[in-house]
Amino acid sequence: MTVAAAPVWTFELAGPDILDVDATERERLRVAFAAWLDALTLPAQLLVQTRRLVPPPAPACPGDAVPELAVRLAEARSDHLAAALAARPAQRRRVLLVVPGGGGRTGRDGAEVVEGLRACGVTAVPRPGAGEGGATAAETARALRVPGGWASSCRVTRLPGTLVEPGWLWQLAGLPGEHDLAVHLRPRTTTATERLLRRRLRAVRTAQLVGPGQGAVDPARLDVGAEAITALQAQLAAGTVRAFDCALTFTARAADPEGAVALVERAGARMRALLGGTRPCWLEQARARQDTRPLGRPPAEGWRLVDTPALSTCWPLVDGTTTVGAGALLGRHRRTGAPCHLDLFDSARLANANCAVLGASGSGKSYVAGLLALEGLAAGVDSVLLDPEHEWLELCRGAGGRYLRLGSDPAAALNVFDLVPADEVVPAAVELVETLCGTLTPVEAAAVEAAARAVVSAGGPRPPLLSDCGEELARRWPDGRPAAVLRRWTEGPAGTLFSRPTTLAWDRPLLGIGLRDLPAEWTAPATLLLARWLWAQVRARPRRRLVVLDEAGLLLEHPALRRLIGQLARRVRKYQGGLVFITQNPGDLLDTEVGAVIRANVASLLLGAHHGGDASRLQRAFSLTDDQRRMLEGSPRGTFLLVSGTRRAPVEVSAPPLHHRLLTAGRAAAPAGGPDGAGDPRRPWT
Ligand SMILES: Nc1ncnc2c1ncn2[C@@H]1O[C@H](COP(=O)(O)OP(=O)(O)OP(=O)(O)O)[C@@H](O)[C@H]1O
Ligand SMILES: [Mg+2]
Repeated sequence: MTVAAAPVWTFELAGPDILDVDATERERLRVAFAAWLDALTLPAQLLVQTRRLVPPPAPACPGDAVPELAVRLAEARSDHLAAALAARPAQRRRVLLVVPGGGGRTGRDGAEVVEGLRACGVTAVPRPGAGEGGATAAETARALRVPGGWASSCRVTRLPGTLVEPGWLWQLAGLPGEHDLAVHLRPRTTTATERLLRRRLRAVRTAQLVGPGQGAVDPARLDVGAEAITALQAQLAAGTVRAFDCALTFTARAADPEGAVALVERAGARMRALLGGTRPCWLEQARARQDTRPLGRPPAEGWRLVDTPALSTCWPLVDGTTTVGAGALLGRHRRTGAPCHLDLFDSARLANANCAVLGASGSGKSYVAGLLALEGLAAGVDSVLLDPEHEWLELCRGAGGRYLRLGSDPAAALNVFDLVPADEVVPAAVELVETLCGTLTPVEAAAVEAAARAVVSAGGPRPPLLSDCGEELARRWPDGRPAAVLRRWTEGPAGTLFSRPTTLAWDRPLLGIGLRDLPAEWTAPATLLLARWLWAQVRARPRRRLVVLDEAGLLLEHPALRRLIGQLARRVRKYQGGLVFITQNPGDLLDTEVGAVIRANVASLLLGAHHGGDASRLQRAFSLTDDQRRMLEGSPRGTFLLVSGTRRAPVEVSAPPLHHRLLTAGRAAAPAGGPDGAGDPRRPWT
């Protein structure tokens, strides 16, 4: 049977998944959607088309200069994605809005209808011809042959009888398999609605008078019905709501009739769980199928009277994949199962490339940050990792990077005279000497500055060293305190680190700097030089790269690093870089001065498992819904809530085997059943 399509305007909608936004935004979207409905003058069809997700083709590897590992990482990621989607298929959802088109004012009306959606953060792209095709063939009582398989439909006969939140359509649109869910709506005039309500109220009153008898409706339900009708009459009279006719039809598609019918039965079960109801379209499959095609054709039956608040819960965009773009593949969206990406450098969506990773110990923070770094590597983004616990050593070495252990590595050296730009050398040298010798008097500071200036301007085949400065100081002021103290730092093991040409170089895509072996006394001067070097590096060659700070709580204990972290958070964006701030303690972000700076300057957060008190603090700080807070409390290892702007997407982190090997090399395996554990049913990707 072929049905001639009436002229329509078809738009493809894109916008926030209402289940993946914060509590405030969820309410804002509901109110904006209600306002859009109230302004609607045309009948409209909202259509959620759910289809199997096919993995994208493997991306072409960038340029010849890319090291071999980057190519292997990119290939491993494509294979991983394909294998994961084959093992556990995911779906993608396309949401269409269809409004009547044709002559007269209707074209402009269509444009006005989509214009109104902007306040809901929804964009609409015209899709001419989306309503064409789809001629249907053989019909049986329970299914209909359609191109590529069979379809079976049901109509929603009772809308949810419980209080539902916006996004409840997910109960139907989220069913596994391929299907179309159509919400047809038709604004009603107030006069017609009042007439209808009066008629209904009369019928209810009559039933109440007749009283109990065989086949009679439960008196309690009659009372509730009468109350609802009177309340709606009052609201319509006051103009606070509008009335609509609404019809929901669901068409399942499968390779065989049984598969399609089974999916329709599941839709029925989901509606019953919401105290709603469906009716399978036996013997009228072809007609029902037309209602779930983008034809804008009003269904012949199945209309229900609803008011604006009820209809505003029918927000159609419920596909988490629309909340994240390309970029690092982190794993799967926990609810939709779709691949979840985070592109820190997507300036169209994110204000900066900074990201904070928060979670209890062992929740998988270092793992996900390492994954970001490896994914960056494949995309040509370099990373430097500050590592107080030497956890990244194997990863850096395995991924062809460099790892320096400050304080114990004989190759590691930091020379204040060659690690900052020329105009900063003298002030940096004075600051270092002050850190080594304790507070300098103005006379001592002047002497140190003069000595530093003298060795810098003397020139020579190599940059001066701290020992040169010490000798110059001793020559000018033999009995001075700074010269005597400096001798300790320019000889012996300390001299190896502080008085040799700098060996720290960000010359590999991955550079790890371990701080664990620094003797306590060396920490302040070493972190001072490290901070100055890193900041100079960031400014010297602006390009996409990441500064990853693991166990940032420990790093914040050092004033020089604290200053650097604040500086990076505020300004690294100007040099095209990003900061990844990892900590177990939400207080590092919520209670400290530098934490406030970071919080104001991170466009993305990954929130992992937290204990009750911390989860509640995060709920308040990031306006999480109760469900999102509960998710944090019960998160298994490797599950994070991706927070960016008003978006909140739950992600199960999963790395391709090659990445996983690199990330876990040299580490004790996680306990069986955890995210590492083979056979963990929650983690089909690994
Ligand atoms: N998504 C994941 N898939 C597989 N294994 C994981 C995943 N996330 C974490 N792991 C493993 O779990 C263990 C703990 O992870 P990780 O070291 O990243 O935790 P953490 O939050 O950084 O802990 P800490 O705060 O103590 O540093 C490691 O062995 C890691 O390899
Ligand atoms: Mg860690």
